[in-house]
Amino acid sequence: KIIILDFGSQFTQLIARRVRELNVYCEIHPFNHIPELDSTVKGVILSGSPYSVRQEDAPFVDLSTFTVYPLLAVCYGAQFIAQQSGGDVQASNTREYGRANLSFVNNANKLFKGINIDSQVWMSHGDTIKNVPENFEIIASTSEVEVAGYQVKGTNTYAIQFHPEVTHSTDGKVLLENFLVDICGCSQDWTADAFVETTIAELKAKLGNDKVVLGLSGGVDSSVAAILLHKAIGKNLHCIFVDNGLLRKDEFESVLEQYKHMGLNIKGIDAKDRFLSQLAGVKDPELKRKAIGRVFIEVFDDAAHEVQDVVWLAQGTIYPDIIESVSVKGPSATIKSHHNVGGLPDFMKLKVVEPLNTLFKDEVRRVGKTLGIEGFILGRHPFPGPGLAIRILGDVTPEKVAILQEADAIYINNLKEAGLYDKVWQAGAIFLPVQSVGVMGDERTYENVICLRAVESVDGMTADWCHLPYNVLAKISNEIINKVKGINRVVYDISSKPPATIEWE
Ligand code: XMP
Repeated sequence: KIIILDFGSQFTQLIARRVRELNVYCEIHPFNHIPELDSTVKGVILSGSPYSVRQEDAPFVDLSTFTVYPLLAVCYGAQFIAQQSGGDVQASNTREYGRANLSFVNNANKLFKGINIDSQVWMSHGDTIKNVPENFEIIASTSEVEVAGYQVKGTNTYAIQFHPEVTHSTDGKVLLENFLVDICGCSQDWTADAFVETTIAELKAKLGNDKVVLGLSGGVDSSVAAILLHKAIGKNLHCIFVDNGLLRKDEFESVLEQYKHMGLNIKGIDAKDRFLSQLAGVKDPELKRKAIGRVFIEVFDDAAHEVQDVVWLAQGTIYPDIIESVSVKGPSATIKSHHNVGGLPDFMKLKVVEPLNTLFKDEVRRVGKTLGIEGFILGRHPFPGPGLAIRILGDVTPEKVAILQEADAIYINNLKEAGLYDKVWQAGAIFLPVQSVGVMGDERTYENVICLRAVESVDGMTADWCHLPYNVLAKISNEIINKVKGINRVVYDISSKPPATIEWE
């Protein structure tokens, strides 16, 4: 495996994804929590950072820790090694942000094999390496930056000033592959098939004949986790799917049916009334979330303990839930760890198993495909745990839920019919507690508003509103107003995140 040491760059996760796209397993660790380095480690990558090496409190690592490993230092990492070795790093006087082209490249160097002069690279830094020590060989330059790449002579230490992980560096992947394969000697055998095979074997060994409970949500992560576990331990996996009354229209029944087809041992629990009665009169978004979380724990716990001698709780936690880019605000930087269902493991006194906790979302989808899970499950839009409760502004009533379910179903079905569902990252309707005047036939109406939301995003952290075609919006609006009683107006949300969020609550 490859270890990526994170100095807090916004691009660190991208480095990891690129390495994995090259079928090499890697892990991200904060610079101040270096893991034990054993013989499975084939190389180390140092990330960029928002810090300048000239700052007193800049992130520091003891480079002698890695002397036996091939090292690739990116941006801040490159400046750090240069400075630590007696080179000169200064604030740059020209802007070095954005596209640049290589004006010199040493093709004989292993790192730059197959990368030609003129190749476009992506720069993003405020400092520049002015001078390198005698024993450094410059292996790439741009017209602005002489030291765009160097090798410490006679060693496996390489550094580059640009970011190979962003797609704007056109040969970035070639460079990473050169490092991983030619310099570190990695075999590119970390594939979805290999992951499935080794994970199933590991789960078998770890879980033996123990019983495991898993909360299914209908989403991608819990579905893939369930199928993996099912392949490993069969009937000892007990899945629980709770209907909190806040799911999309007919979602409970149809998802339950799909899971049964997949051979899962699954128990559906109708807890609609319990959730809705606890939500009655609650207006504050955070209080709504808390009430839903509390009832979920109660319902899930009851169901889990009906499974005799259960030992494990399985969760669909994925890698981004566990790593967060290291907080570079101080020496105490640690990795935050949070779970899909906060508090559940402690509360239930069960051991926790998380088979997907090394995977990124796109990798979960690939693993799901390898497992034979159908495309419509793997391509399902994200849906929040508190469900429609946070898409009904203000208090939640069964009537409002029913109205929103109808409007949402019309919206989503139209997106599917227009071939837009898979192009949109997430979409949903929102019930606004606002009444406005309308006219239907000869009658005046005074009814509520439905807002449509559709966003493009990669990970939900930032999002742009989708430019849905007017004719599709027109059809959806017409159908909602004509068919959903209680709605006489439809609006479209044209806010991006930030400053808005995806959900309204
Ligand atoms: P926001 O509204 O914060 O949403 O821009 C980002 C993503 O997170 C989802 N979301 C939630 N998911 N429990 C969840 O499981 C929640 O309380 C919750 N709030 C937001 C949201 O649907 C979007 O994909």
